[in-house]
Amino acid sequence: MITAKICLACNRRNYYRAIERFSSGSVKSFCTSGRTFEQAIKSPTEKPYYITTPIFYVNAAPHIGHLYSTTFADVFKRWQQFLGRQAYLLTGTDEHGMKVQQVAEAANVKPRELCDKNSEIFKDLALAARISNDRFIRTTDSDHIAAAQKLWTVLQEKGYIYKGTHEGWYSVSDETFYTESQLEDIKSPETGETIKISKETGKTVEWSSEDNYFFALSKFTDQLLNFYEQNPRFVVPEVRYNEIKNTVRDGLPDLSISRPASRFTWAIPVPGDDSQTMYVWLDALTNYLTAAGYGSLSSEEFGRSIWPADVHVVGKDIVKFHCVYWPAFLLAAGVPPPKQIVVHSHWQMNGSKMSKSVGNVVDPFAIIKKLDVDSVRYYLLSQNILEADGDFSDQSAEVKRNADLINNYANIISRTCGPKFSISAGIDEFFSQPGKPVSRADDFLQLQNKLVNDLNELLPTIRHKMETYNVTGAVIEIFNVLHNGNLYAQLGSPWKTEPENVNPTIFHMAEIARVTSILLQPFLPSYAEKALDRLNVVKIRRGHKFARFGADREYGQGANRKGEHIITRI
Ligand code: ME8
Ligand code: MG
Repeated sequence: MITAKICLACNRRNYYRAIERFSSGSVKSFCTSGRTFEQAIKSPTEKPYYITTPIFYVNAAPHIGHLYSTTFADVFKRWQQFLGRQAYLLTGTDEHGMKVQQVAEAANVKPRELCDKNSEIFKDLALAARISNDRFIRTTDSDHIAAAQKLWTVLQEKGYIYKGTHEGWYSVSDETFYTESQLEDIKSPETGETIKISKETGKTVEWSSEDNYFFALSKFTDQLLNFYEQNPRFVVPEVRYNEIKNTVRDGLPDLSISRPASRFTWAIPVPGDDSQTMYVWLDALTNYLTAAGYGSLSSEEFGRSIWPADVHVVGKDIVKFHCVYWPAFLLAAGVPPPKQIVVHSHWQMNGSKMSKSVGNVVDPFAIIKKLDVDSVRYYLLSQNILEADGDFSDQSAEVKRNADLINNYANIISRTCGPKFSISAGIDEFFSQPGKPVSRADDFLQLQNKLVNDLNELLPTIRHKMETYNVTGAVIEIFNVLHNGNLYAQLGSPWKTEPENVNPTIFHMAEIARVTSILLQPFLPSYAEKALDRLNVVKIRRGHKFARFGADREYGQGANRKGEHIITRI
């Protein structure tokens, strides 16, 4: 049951979740995310892990790039929960701005209607992709508007906002200021005079000025550089961090943070000045605070909230906003900056960035429908795009599905659960007759020993990969073990070996299936759940403590029967 009470265990309010009914009849509300009331009581001060995705513009349809950032963040949320920590994932939509205003005007609908319709598509994608977000935030949500206005007010009270004039090349018909590099000189067909036009739209521009509020960003150059110095892992990967440091070292100009309300109607009003509306990035970035209760909690309560964010996951296109402007706003407002920004590169298709205007976007709904969620997750996670761009191909997604997921992962599960064998008997025999002599070839036993070692090494290895955001490496480690596990099954051939060898072989195969499935839960939650259900591993023994060889002696009952494959062929 969802409720909005204060958590009795840790006294926080904004990520309350459930009510526990005690047998005494009393009802207590507490934070869940997988914890019981008793667990929450034990570590009341541990802040939940808080991870976010960018909030996406509603003026274009979601594509595989949006799904990637969201999946990536989802994996880290699930990973933290797997390690036993409470975790909160935020995603949503960025709804204000000129683009939405113009599209709505052209379609003769209210901007809000357009946003309602389009944000629903992003919400549907999160559902279709089984993303475990705790909130889907919209910048049109009332608590967000309150949070953005509060941040503005605090910045103003602290003296970092002043009124000034913004001058530049302005196109009336595009309603946009352009920089020199976005313009070109042409001879006017009518007058023969040289005029400036936008390279993108071909519309003429004129020198123009308007009143804006400015944020005193230039005052934060040294403070930001110090902050970067003291937080060497603030931006990951390092190549992005170095770019940012260089940008800031060159010095920062003050930033225009409002627009005239006469032109920019679809935006959050500037508190205390109806003639101006807020710059969309100031509005958008604040969403991360909104979800933590900024603007609705007292400052004391906010101090005990999920803020600061542990990780903002972003694409490399929006680094400056997250790594320069955002910490500057927060330092200015006296709010702790997020702990880390993880920047990934882009998915391309046929060598160029996916973009709607180029028309090379992959529809995430279609591919999920065709391959199912976890196969798409697997494909997205199989390329490390932290530093370099990746190339997306429907075909290789399908090839990988067949090769790795069906012929490798699902295969060892179905072999182990074959009706002629008994996992339970294998477990009983292994634990009741330790050191029982075996008549097996040396290389087979060597492989078996290696697999036992590998299974015990997997958790620390994956932990290390995840600390460096190498999800791809983590998944590869698990699939290497699965690959060797199938080799082991092939060599051991329980279907034709001597009867006394059957149980030990099945037992080792089952352990490979069980431990890898436990570890796959954050990455491929649906497949892993099906596999663990098939192996009949009870829910309370699916945690990281059970990701060791021999850690569970009580699974497998009834698993050996004819049954459905955990992944269906298409
Ligand atoms: O920038 N490959 O929204 P947006 C990988 N509203 N990821 C991609 C991608 C690609 N080809 N294309 C997009 C905005 N992304 C702002 C953000 S946050 C306070 C405001 C992902 O709809 C990636 O995460 O343009 C990128 O940063 C984001 O979508 C941009 O989404
Ligand atoms: Mg964009």
